[in-house]
Amino acid sequence: MAAQESGKLHYWDAFWDLRVDECPCDVHFCDWLEKTDIRNASIFHFGTGGHHIVGIRTAENGSNNCVLGITAAPQEYETFIQLAIERPEVEKTYKTFFGDIYQLDKRLLPELDVVALFHLCEFRTEKNDLYGALTDRQVADMLTEKTRKGGYIVFYTKSFAFETAAKVIAEWEKEQPVEKVGMYESLLVYRKTK
Ligand SMILES: C[S@@+](CC[C@H](N)C(=O)[O-])C[C@H]1O[C@@H](n2cnc3c(N)ncnc32)[C@H](O)[C@@H]1O
Repeated sequence: MAAQESGKLHYWDAFWDLRVDECPCDVHFCDWLEKTDIRNASIFHFGTGGHHIVGIRTAENGSNNCVLGITAAPQEYETFIQLAIERPEVEKTYKTFFGDIYQLDKRLLPELDVVALFHLCEFRTEKNDLYGALTDRQVADMLTEKTRKGGYIVFYTKSFAFETAAKVIAEWEKEQPVEKVGMYESLLVYRKTK
């Protein structure tokens, strides 16, 4: 994370291109969506990267799924803008916004069928506390609330912060109407039951 003046948004001053060996979550996610034959679904994606593969593959694979992504990196948002300009057929079903996920406001969120929380606990620090941002658990709860009954919430077990995330997930699982579906490659999949 960039050195930032206290009180400013805790953004990500970096650019993540597709590095499947290091971080396969987005590719595993696209594979899982296709293998599970998820169609006509609204998908929320935490941490688009600058490659935007989830939005692009979704637009190209005929699933009629749509993706709302969030990035905290200005550089990654810039490549989304370029993508949108150059490929309106992708932009039709793929929107990304710039912001800190810990500042989400549920009033602005649609009903969702699939939520990908791959980077839970990776980036939240005391810098987010300075402006009263949500916690990891609050983000998970909010997005669970916005997930339709039968929808999926997906975590990434190879995240460098998964040890911490696993504790949040264990509490979340006990208190939210969700059930574990199982693993797909590096992904841990839950389903909303109510
Ligand atoms: C290591 S990159 C991984 C990108 C992609 N999921 C992949 O696996 O290739 C982490 C992603 O999380 C995003 N990110 C970091 N902090 C964030 C925050 N507070 N809110 C939203 N997104 C954040 C970054 O912008 C970046 O897209």
